[in-house]
Amino acid sequence: FSLKDHNTFRLDVRANFKAGITQPEELQELYANPKFKTVKKLVLGGGSNVLFTRNFLGLVLKMEIGGIAVEQDSADSVIVSFGAGENWHQCVLWAVEHGYAGIENLSLIPGTVGAAPMQNIGAYGVELKEVFHSLDAYDVKTGKISRFYNEDCKFGYRYSVFKGPRKDKYIITRVYLRLSKKPKFNITYGNLKETLEQMGVEELTLKNVSQAVINIRQSKLPDPLEIGNAGSFFKNPVVEKVYFDSLKAAFEKIPGYEVDEASVKLPAAWLIDQCGWKGTRIGDIGVHDKQALVLVNHGNGKGRDILKLSTEIQKSVFSTFGVELEREVNVV
Ligand code: EPU
Repeated sequence: FSLKDHNTFRLDVRANFKAGITQPEELQELYANPKFKTVKKLVLGGGSNVLFTRNFLGLVLKMEIGGIAVEQDSADSVIVSFGAGENWHQCVLWAVEHGYAGIENLSLIPGTVGAAPMQNIGAYGVELKEVFHSLDAYDVKTGKISRFYNEDCKFGYRYSVFKGPRKDKYIITRVYLRLSKKPKFNITYGNLKETLEQMGVEELTLKNVSQAVINIRQSKLPDPLEIGNAGSFFKNPVVEKVYFDSLKAAFEKIPGYEVDEASVKLPAAWLIDQCGWKGTRIGDIGVHDKQALVLVNHGNGKGRDILKLSTEIQKSVFSTFGVELEREVNVV
């Protein structure tokens, strides 16, 4: 069957089998089923961070575990559990609606809740790890559900152990977030503050901060329903401070954000933009015209061609700036 509606690049690849998972017990049954013992398995949430370069010869497990529940309620905060198959943005809207703060800056990120901790999603100055309490995950070897707490996940910039040593060993079934009843707004990133001003906002609320983020995202990032894409295709590279200084000498306008005393994060979008890639179109694939970090499929593009384009971009950024871009999207 076709995976076209199950990946936001809207690539028309096929898989042999597909199973919708609505409860963790179904994972136990599937993994115990001799029919699927030797079959390759791929867990898909919203398919918003994956690039398919070929058909998948195996079983796609489509995460559909639902449910939102307040597990603990104290004067200042709540711990809320979210089923891994819940749509992330709908959960943000739920939190905003209930007056629970902490994820409003993460509005409109495509994908499911289960995928969020995998790569510690982040936007507009906030990362998931700041509100993450714990998660439940199915251990594909033992068939048991384990609990992972914040420190167990070893979160970093677009990173967790589930992308590293524990990759493909666990399936996230439920995520617990600690959300605050007393918002601490973070509007220092980019043009968030200006956007709120333009909206005529006088008093910050969860709702208008969320709306401002939605407005910014809609103005820069293509809607996957209209133009296939998976958000940022590369990570923002981190370079040594001394290297940044030498870049600065050669490229006066190069932006950089201090990570710590010794390192600086560069906006990959700027590097790609400077190399002239923004708005490039080759057949049905290309680079988005409003955000150079986003590769797009205008219709009948092929994953393999997008991958090839990404390699060309990496080469040209490396030859101009001596900086290696690392892919953010998972290639299958
Ligand atoms: N810029 C350009 N050309 C462009 C776009 C941006 O030169 O075409 C420069 C500008 O100088 C701008 C800077 O790049 O100030 C940063 O751009 P932006 O604020 O749009 O953010 P980003 O670094 O490109 C990151 C995340 C996004 C997240 C935004 C907002 C990564 C890999 N990407 O993008 O995450 O939404 O910040 O916080 O860290 C994603 O992961 O899929 C994603 C969309």
